[in-house]
Amino acid sequence: MIKNRDNFLLFIPVLIAGIVLLTTFLLIFQLKQFGSSYIKDAEEELNVDTKQALWIIKPILENNDYAKLNKYCSDMKNEKMRLTIINPAGKVIADSKTGINKLDNHSNRPEIKAAQTGQSNTTIRYSNTMHSEMVYHSEPVMINGEGYIVRVSVSADNIEKVLNRAEKNIILTFLIGTGGVIILSLYIFLRVRIPFNKLQQSTIKIASGNLDTEVYVPKNGILWELARAVDIMSKQLKRQIKNMKKMENFRSEFIANVSHEVKTPLTSILSAVEILDGIDNTNPRAKKCLKIISEQSKRLNRLIQDILSLADLEKKQIFKNRDFAELSINSTVENAVNLCRGLTDAAGIEVVIEENTPTKIFGNSYFLEQAINNLITNAVKYSKTDKIVINAHVENNEIKISVKDFGIGMKKEEAARIFERFYRVDKARSRELGGTGLGLAIVKNIAKLHNGNVEVITNPGRGANFIITIPII
Ligand SMILES: Nc1ncnc2c1ncn2[C@@H]1O[C@H](COP(=O)(O)OP(=O)(O)OP(=O)(O)O)[C@@H](O)[C@H]1O
Ligand SMILES: [Mg+2]
Repeated sequence: MIKNRDNFLLFIPVLIAGIVLLTTFLLIFQLKQFGSSYIKDAEEELNVDTKQALWIIKPILENNDYAKLNKYCSDMKNEKMRLTIINPAGKVIADSKTGINKLDNHSNRPEIKAAQTGQSNTTIRYSNTMHSEMVYHSEPVMINGEGYIVRVSVSADNIEKVLNRAEKNIILTFLIGTGGVIILSLYIFLRVRIPFNKLQQSTIKIASGNLDTEVYVPKNGILWELARAVDIMSKQLKRQIKNMKKMENFRSEFIANVSHEVKTPLTSILSAVEILDGIDNTNPRAKKCLKIISEQSKRLNRLIQDILSLADLEKKQIFKNRDFAELSINSTVENAVNLCRGLTDAAGIEVVIEENTPTKIFGNSYFLEQAINNLITNAVKYSKTDKIVINAHVENNEIKISVKDFGIGMKKEEAARIFERFYRVDKARSRELGGTGLGLAIVKNIAKLHNGNVEVITNPGRGANFIITIPII
């Protein structure tokens, strides 16, 4: 996946390569400019040299003094410049560097052709005689009515060689520069980007709760220190979470143990109360006391039952699916409604199953029935509704079971807390009705056990709609 950061990493070498390329072009351009200005200077110099040579040669030619002409030319043998005199037929009649017999007819040379039309001319070309690049300047001259040509030339080889070498060096520098940038980018990519990606992937996994993820620590390089720090951090976090889990387990176990211990004497108290209730007793004070003992011990029994139920659920969260089986939602919903039938009938509340689904899921039907049961019981006990609507359907690959009443509802801040243990909106009333404040915490735990959740949509005076959502796997 290409991210912005990758784009940036790719942008830098491209930018550097661009700068190197631009610099190369500028250098070559400068070089060409330098070359042409050098040649221009050479041309001007040749022009002056030719004029000077003409001044001497013209009278010699007018006197047809070839001996003097050849002497003049051979005197110039060691000069840097070469002097050539060509007759109207294109034949070389004197040359300062070579014997004239070796030279062929020069009529076809471009600078000669141009001069034959009466124009002075400068040409740069390779000379087969001199075996080098030359700058030629030709000047036509009229001798006794006939057109002779005086040509002066100088080697352009040195400057050409320098320029060529410089051009080669520049191109070489460019290639080395670009190659270097590519190698450097590759190095950065391999040594930084890839380890960075691996490190990022492991930290993302750790952040999402997968603490067993091995942190990628490169053997060396600039990421080593950072990766090591992340590794140490993740190990510490793992240890801390392990400790927390241990403590939480200890707490749950302790509560469960205490509850079990309390349950045994409580059962004895309850049976004793039942026996006492059966014995004929006319003392009104004794009867009242017996009633209080009976009610309170029943309440205590319910509380213990709920606490044990929660502890059991918490334990099951760790060994999910252990006692899961295939169940169909519609029969679970129907069973829960039937279980509450006595309660709802007694309260004169109509229960309507608006929609039900035969969808099968893997779960614990006993717990799911208990969750729906808790919700119906709450609606009966607290909402003052005259109707409860139940709806179970599939939405986005999830089962949604809602229990809706049309009663008193509650405020947002209360709704946000009712799934907490022991939280009751109206404490006095709840207690009066025998509520312990654990019912919804149990519902939430049951939903979580099925990898789902529970939420409430409610408003004061507008009723409450409790929705259990369970993913279908
Ligand atoms: N349908 C409802 N309409 C209005 N208030 C509700 C409704 N359901 C629950 N409540 C409020 O939420 C509180 C918490 O409910 P929860 O079921 O957790 O505890 P409880 O019913 O008091 O005790 P338990 O269920 O353990 O017997 C209740 O005390 C009640 O005030
Ligand atoms: Mg309840």
